[in-house]
Amino acid sequence: MTVTAPTALRVSRVLLEHNDDPSTLGTATPRLSWAVETGDPGWQQQAYEIGFTPAGGEEQVARVESAEQLLVPWPLEPLTSRAGGTVTIRAYGPDGAVAESEPLSIGVGLLEASDWQARFVGPAGQGLEDPAPIVFTTAEIAGEITSARLYVTALGWYRFAINGTRVGDEELAPGWTAYHGRLRYQSFDVTELLTSGENRFQAVLGNGWFRGQMSWDMHRAHYGDKLALLAQLEITKADGSTQVIKSDETWQSCASGILADDFYDGQRTDLSIPLDPAGKEAKSVELVEWDLDTLFAPYGPPIRVVETLPVKEIITSPSGKTIIDFGQNLVGWVRLKTRGEAGAEVIIRHAEVLEHGELGVRPLRKAKATDSYLLSGGDDVCEPLFTFHGFRYAEVSGVADLDPSRVEAVAISSDLRRTGTWASSHDQLNQLHQNVVWGMRGNFLDVPTDCPQRDERLGWTGDIQVFSPTASYLFHTGGFLSNWLADLAVDQWEDGSVPSVIPNVLGETHNGAAAAAWGDAAAVVPTVLWQRFADRDLVATQFPSMKAWVDKLISLATEDGLWLGGFQYGDWLDPTAPPENAAKAQVSPDVVATAHLIRSAALVADAAELLGKDDEAKHYRGVSERSRQSFIDEFVTGSGRVLGDCQTAYAMALVWDFLPEDRRDHAGRRLADLVERADFKVSTGFVGTPLILDALELAGRPDLAWKMITATENPSWLYPVTMGATTIWERWDSMLPDGTINPGQMTSFNHYAFGAVADWMHRRLAGLAPAEPGYRKIIIAPIVPIVPDGLDWCEASYDSGYGPITVRWQRSGDAVELTATIPPGVTADVRLPDGAEHQVSHGDHAWTAVPKTKEEA
Ligand code: BGC
Repeated sequence: MTVTAPTALRVSRVLLEHNDDPSTLGTATPRLSWAVETGDPGWQQQAYEIGFTPAGGEEQVARVESAEQLLVPWPLEPLTSRAGGTVTIRAYGPDGAVAESEPLSIGVGLLEASDWQARFVGPAGQGLEDPAPIVFTTAEIAGEITSARLYVTALGWYRFAINGTRVGDEELAPGWTAYHGRLRYQSFDVTELLTSGENRFQAVLGNGWFRGQMSWDMHRAHYGDKLALLAQLEITKADGSTQVIKSDETWQSCASGILADDFYDGQRTDLSIPLDPAGKEAKSVELVEWDLDTLFAPYGPPIRVVETLPVKEIITSPSGKTIIDFGQNLVGWVRLKTRGEAGAEVIIRHAEVLEHGELGVRPLRKAKATDSYLLSGGDDVCEPLFTFHGFRYAEVSGVADLDPSRVEAVAISSDLRRTGTWASSHDQLNQLHQNVVWGMRGNFLDVPTDCPQRDERLGWTGDIQVFSPTASYLFHTGGFLSNWLADLAVDQWEDGSVPSVIPNVLGETHNGAAAAAWGDAAAVVPTVLWQRFADRDLVATQFPSMKAWVDKLISLATEDGLWLGGFQYGDWLDPTAPPENAAKAQVSPDVVATAHLIRSAALVADAAELLGKDDEAKHYRGVSERSRQSFIDEFVTGSGRVLGDCQTAYAMALVWDFLPEDRRDHAGRRLADLVERADFKVSTGFVGTPLILDALELAGRPDLAWKMITATENPSWLYPVTMGATTIWERWDSMLPDGTINPGQMTSFNHYAFGAVADWMHRRLAGLAPAEPGYRKIIIAPIVPIVPDGLDWCEASYDSGYGPITVRWQRSGDAVELTATIPPGVTADVRLPDGAEHQVSHGDHAWTAVPKTKEEA
C-alpha cells in the first residue's frame, strides 16, 4: 500500500443544490456540497464553515461541527430573490488545518410570482400554421449600466437576442417540463450586451414541445395554442438607480423566415428573410394568460451543443442520392454552409441507418425528420433553430458538389457534467460502453426519453426506471432527475397512478396508468438518487408520490398481495416476443407485477425509515413481506423453480431476494442451466436486463456473466456492436443479421434501456460499486473473469461528491495488480481476487493478488 505525494490542502468543487452553475438558484436556502483535496491520508473533516459575502457587504459565517460534505443545509439567514454574492467553504481537519475554497459567485433567481412584472406576450391572432413569430421591442437606457440580468422563458421554444447578439448558449430553451404545473425560466447576465441609448430586444418563438406535434397520433398544441414570451430585464446603474424592461402589450411582433417548425417533422426556412424585425411589417402583440406561480428556476444544466462531428464519408446511394455518414448516431442537426441561387431549395433528410444503401426512414414512423431551406442567393448557413433529429446519416439534395469541409453534425444534450468513465482491454466492450454514453446523451434532452428520432421521444417511465443507476454514474444526474421527479409528482393522478410517460402527454385515455416497472419509477428513481447522491431531501419531497404509487398497487392487488391481471408491459421486448407484440414475454406479467409491488413497497419502507417515519416503515415493510410470501406460494415450486422458468423470472427472484434460503441454490442452478442452454445469449427484456448478470453472480456463476456480456450472437449486448452500432438499440435485433431493419413497429437505434447493463460493468467488471449513499463508502471487488479470453485490464473512474475515485486492475502473469484512489471522506471495502479483504480510506492504494481458480472460488 502506498500513499502519493502531498497535494495542497483545499476545498475543490463546490455545488449549490445539484447546480454546476449557481447563478439562478431557485431556493432561499441552497444546500451545499464540496470535495476536499489533500495529500494527508489521515485528514478527516471535523467541522466546516460556510461564508457568504453579499455583493458589496460583509461576510456572514456559520460554523458547523460535522463531517458531512454533501448537500448540507444552508446554515445562514435565508437568501432573497435576486440576492448575489460569493460563497466560501472552509473545512477543518483534526489539527485545525483548514481547507478553503475559492469564492464562488452565486445568484438567486426570482423566488416569488410577485417578483415578475413582465407578462407573457405573443403575436395577436396567431395561428398554428404561421411562420415562427418574432416578438420585439426597443428601449432607451440612460446612464452608466453597472449590471443587468435578464429573466426569461416562453410558451414554446425561444431564442433571445439583444442588439443582434444571441443571449446565452442554451438550445431548445426553456426545456420541457409538465408546463401546466412547472414552467422553467432562465436568467442571464447581459450587462455586456447593453449600451447607453437605444437597445433592441427580440425573441423568435418555436412550437417545440409546447405546441408542436406530440406522440404517434401527432396531436398539436398539447399545452396551449399560443406561443408567448416572458422577459424581464433588470438593470442597475452607476448612480444606484434601476430600470426594468419587461414584456408587455407595448411589444410588437412580425413573422420570421422560419416557415414551419416541428420537433418531429423538422424545420422549413426561407434564408432570404433575416431573423430580425428590421424592415418588416410590425403587428401588435396580445397578453397570453399563464399562471406565474408555475415559474421555477433550473435544477440542473440546460440543453447545449455538446459536440460537433465532421463528415466521415459521402456516399452515393444505389438510387443516386447523396448521403452523408457522420460515423456516429447522434441527436441534433446538420449545419451546412452553401451558396446557391436565390430561392433554390436544399433539403436534408435524416435517418439512423441505411437499408439497401438508402436512408432507412421506416423506423421514424410519422416523423418526417426533414429540414429544408430556400437559399438567399448569398453565403448561407443551413441550420435549424427549432427542431432536432436522431441520425447518423443525412441525405442532402439541392447542393451540387457537396464539400465535406462545409458540413458538420451538431450534437445536443442536456449539458450534464460527465462523472463516470469505464475502459478495458476489450475493444467490443469499450464500444458497447461508448454506445451507452452516446445513447444517454441523445436521450437526456431535459426529459429522459425513450428515443430521439421517431414520432415519440417521450419520457417513458420504465426506460429511466431501469437506466437511472447507469445514468447516475456516467453523468451528474442529480438536478436533471430531481426535476423530472417533480414533474412525475405533478402528473401523477389523484389515485396514485403514474402515467407511462412524464411529462404526461398521452392523457387519461392511455391504459398504462399503473403498469409495473413503468410506474415504479416513482419509487425507484428517488431511491437511486438517494443511493448515488445522498439526496435525503429529495426522498422527503418525493415521499408522498412514492407512497401514493404503492398505495395504488395495494388497491390493485389481491387481499394477499398478488398483483394479477390488468394492463401490463411486462418484460417488454423479451427477445422471444414476436416483432409485433413486444409485451409477449416468457415471464408472466403477473410475476413481473407482483415482483414490482414487493420491491416498491420495500423501497417506500426504506424511505420511511430514512425519514424517521417508523409507523409507515413498518406498514410498507409488512405489505412487501406479505406479497413476497404470496409470490413464493403462488409462483415458486417447493424446490425453487420460478413460474416462467426463464432468465427474467430467476433474475428478479434472486436479485430482489424473494426466495427462501433453501430454494436459492436450486433457482441459481436452474438459471445457470438456462443460460448455458441458450449459448449465453440474452433472453431478457426491459425488466430482466439490468438484473441478469448480478443474478448469475448470486448464483455463484460469474463465469457465465462474463460469457453472456461477451457473447456476440443475436440476442446479446455485443451483437449490435458487431453490426457497427454506435448507440444502444431498442431491440436486441433492431437490425437483422442480413442488414435489414427489424419489421416491428418500434425499431429505434437509440434507446438506452438495454444499456442498463453498464451499471454492472462499472460495479463488477471494474469493481467500483457504491455501498453507502453518495459513495461515502464503496466496495472495490472486481470479478476478474476467470476465463482464458478474459480481460487483461479494466478501469473505472467516478467523480463523486467527495472527489474522484479511480479503480484499475491489470493482469501481470498469474497475478492481478489492483490500484485505487480514494478521496477524503470516502472509505472502501476491498475484496481481492484471492479472497483477501482490506478496509481503506483516502489515498492511493495498490495490491497484488493471485486470483482463485474457478474450483477454488
Ligand atoms: C417506447 C418504450 C416504452 C414502451 C412502453 C415504446 O414505444 O419506445 O421504450 O417504454 O413503448 O410501451
